[in-house]
Amino acid sequence: MRPPRPLELDDVPAGPSPGTLLCRTDDLPEHGGRELVFRDGSHQISLLVQRFHGQTYVYENRCPHAGTPLNLMGDRFLNIDGTDLICRTHGAQFHVETGYCHLGPCKGRYLRPVAVEERDGGIYSL
Ligand code: FES
Repeated sequence: MRPPRPLELDDVPAGPSPGTLLCRTDDLPEHGGRELVFRDGSHQISLLVQRFHGQTYVYENRCPHAGTPLNLMGDRFLNIDGTDLICRTHGAQFHVETGYCHLGPCKGRYLRPVAVEERDGGIYSL
């Protein structure tokens, strides 16, 4: 399976407008994560932001297996070893850099990346 094209938040009913500051990178510790939820009426989208080895990765917070958020509570997205993103529902594990699932029930599938840019110490929607 090929990686999905990045999700453009402007195309999502509850998504923020292009150029919206999603979070400041210096608010995230190294290997720290954050869930961001945007709502508009009955629409909602959840994103996960993960710092990892000096880079920031943003994915739709939706497991390709059953569509649940990867986290069950809080901002913890890495496995216990801190090496991969993990879905807390059934334990699928994903490479942080690509979103590729290499272990678990959705092996071979990907998390959906989000179209963002990092500049001036922040992560902004495109
Ligand atoms: S919902 Fe994520 S592994 Fe099943």
